[in-house]
Amino acid sequence: MALSAAAMLSCGPKGDPQLGKASIDKVIGAMTLEEKAHLVIGTGMAGTSGDAPVIGETRNLVPGAAGTTYPIPRLGIPAIVLADGPAGLRINPVREGDEATYYCTHFPIGTLLASTWNQELVEQVGNAIGEEVLEYGADVLLAPALNIHRNPLCGRNFEYYSEDPVVSGKIAAAYVNGVQKNGVGTSIKHFAANNQETNRMGNDALISKRALREIYLKGFEIAVKESQPWTVMSSYNYLNGVYTSESKDLLTSVLRGDWGFKGMVMTDWFGGKDACAQMEAGNDMLQPGRDGQFEAIVKGVQDGTLDEAVLDRNVKRILELIMLSPRFKGYKYSNNPDLKAHAKVTRQSATEGMVLLKNDGVLPFSSEIKNVALYGTTSYDFIAGGTGSGNVNRAYTVSLQEGLSNAGYKVDKSLEKMYLKYIAEETERLNPKSDNPMAMFMPKNRAGEIVPSKAELASSVSANDAAIITIGRTSGEFLDRKVSDFSLTAKEQELIREVCKAFHAAGKKAIVVLNIGGVIETASWKGIPDAILCAWQAGQEGGNSVADVLKGNASPSGKLTMTFPVAYKDHASSKNFPVDLEFGMFGKTLDADKGEKVRNVDYTEYEEGIYVGYRWFDKAGIEVSYPFGYGLSYTEFEYGSPAISHSAGVTKMTVTVTNTGKFAGKEAVQLYVSAPAGTMDKPVRELKAFAKTRELKPGESQTITLTVADADLASFDQEQNAWTVEGGNYIFQAGASSRDIRATLETEIKPSVIKVSQAL
Ligand code: BGC
Repeated sequence: MALSAAAMLSCGPKGDPQLGKASIDKVIGAMTLEEKAHLVIGTGMAGTSGDAPVIGETRNLVPGAAGTTYPIPRLGIPAIVLADGPAGLRINPVREGDEATYYCTHFPIGTLLASTWNQELVEQVGNAIGEEVLEYGADVLLAPALNIHRNPLCGRNFEYYSEDPVVSGKIAAAYVNGVQKNGVGTSIKHFAANNQETNRMGNDALISKRALREIYLKGFEIAVKESQPWTVMSSYNYLNGVYTSESKDLLTSVLRGDWGFKGMVMTDWFGGKDACAQMEAGNDMLQPGRDGQFEAIVKGVQDGTLDEAVLDRNVKRILELIMLSPRFKGYKYSNNPDLKAHAKVTRQSATEGMVLLKNDGVLPFSSEIKNVALYGTTSYDFIAGGTGSGNVNRAYTVSLQEGLSNAGYKVDKSLEKMYLKYIAEETERLNPKSDNPMAMFMPKNRAGEIVPSKAELASSVSANDAAIITIGRTSGEFLDRKVSDFSLTAKEQELIREVCKAFHAAGKKAIVVLNIGGVIETASWKGIPDAILCAWQAGQEGGNSVADVLKGNASPSGKLTMTFPVAYKDHASSKNFPVDLEFGMFGKTLDADKGEKVRNVDYTEYEEGIYVGYRWFDKAGIEVSYPFGYGLSYTEFEYGSPAISHSAGVTKMTVTVTNTGKFAGKEAVQLYVSAPAGTMDKPVRELKAFAKTRELKPGESQTITLTVADADLASFDQEQNAWTVEGGNYIFQAGASSRDIRATLETEIKPSVIKVSQAL
């Protein structure tokens, strides 16, 4: 009796087992092959051919979300909603026949968040984003994105964190922990080696086992181990000849076997080719789903090429994810997240990731500076973030002109008028109404710069106390940047030169603000202005955040998570990157007819191996414009009392940081390690840990402890397929940047070897 009562409770009206009441295995046992095949693909995407049948039904759950899972009501399986990030939740801001708005907060771009070097702060930002995910009814945020900045020209670097895997992994873990605190999921992406947009669905990334493990997978490994994201998104590209979404080595042996990942893997949108191979590889769900994939899976099981047990395994992982979701739990979302509170979060977090590259003392502005002359089109048309799926539909963007006005500065009206007129004309000229459906994803054409006449300059010099020149860049999904985008244009150079000359001649200061999403050339002009603030793309409150920094309400404490080279070609990867090739993401090959493969389009050789970013610049002894880890503050910090200890396989280095300057500020302390000479080739030094002080008042100190496990000192030995720690004296260096080491200590480490799966 008791048994059959329990059975009844776990079943629906027609006797079907219900998810959450009956065991998952029972639910799977009751599914038809067709239902299973539907569940492992999504519900299709509007406007794409081959929509799966239920598109209309679930698309409206949260309009503008990237996708949903397939609902099976008879088994109590709801559709759950997957929506983009990473700079905030991406959904449609307005809905047909609905007066309400559904704006989300545009937080700073990933690169800025990483530049804070502050995991606690990134976790807070993640927490705020997670609240919007939850309260707008989404279940999984398709973020964070943590591919390596292999080359400055990758169009999506703004979404990513760093040229270094430890920064990438730790910042991603903090973000995931923050979002998932809300009981919603994340999808760390794009796994792995999606380091260029050119021909992103057909490019084969050819990478040595060592570089793969140490550089391109390491960040994902850290994020998986330190935050257990609910899902992982495989990438579009091939990796050493195999689509990542079809690679069992990557998705099963490494991700689950070596790292212990317990969640679900989904494809990037329309990624990969062979649905059965994807199932087999452990790519549990294919998004957004196409009829052809459904048919291939059903046929595969029927003709025995796809083991149904494999399908069941993937179905199980999807059901486990669904059971975690707010929608499954019946959470009543409000459609009313606390956008006011989140505007404060983004405003404050942005100031902490801005990097002060140069300051001769003009910043923060003294109280004598009241009237400012604001140059550069982006001062008035400030860029909140990049384009594509990482764009966020926010209610507003605070420009620098508005931010400065809000902060009580008088912004030169005649310059404002001149720029607004110019921007309107240029926008009209460059962006004629387009019926290209992809246009919404493309970077907006921005007005080039104008250089005021001598007379105009003279009058703004006399009317103002200082000048600010903003240099802006935008980029995004689908397209890589060009070398011309890395360089300043002749007009931009002239603008900086002429404005600085005119203001300097009158004994006044001129500063440059960089409103950029990725690295640009700075070496040729950085000597000219009095200060340079790299403000990045700082989210919807960007102008307010910059004003907070310029005014001294906040001391900038960001540091670069990538190198600013002297010249683009100084990067080792520049030899093997699709530079200035006229290919978009589809990358039709030049000699398609002849079947010839085009270098850097069809395949890219990661010839530089592990020598990415500072690892390369240090090894080759190349001078850089601003090194990895660099960033000034309004105050100064001294590093004292260094100490080191080693026990139970862990090294601890402590250092006491003292604020010796006049402003309150925070310091990002970096720990680099140099290995002893052994049999393996080693970088000069590698970042192994970092930490940020709390805000220290002048004279205040804080002791920082940086911890490194012996295993984290290992290099990947391709011959042995093992992480190998060579024995000897390791040099631990606490630094303010990769080229500003403040304290050095040594400790002896015993050799060890950690075997991994034979894969990859
Ligand atoms: C992007 C992903 C994104 C997905 C869904 C793809 O084009 O590469 O980052 O999550 O679309 O919008």
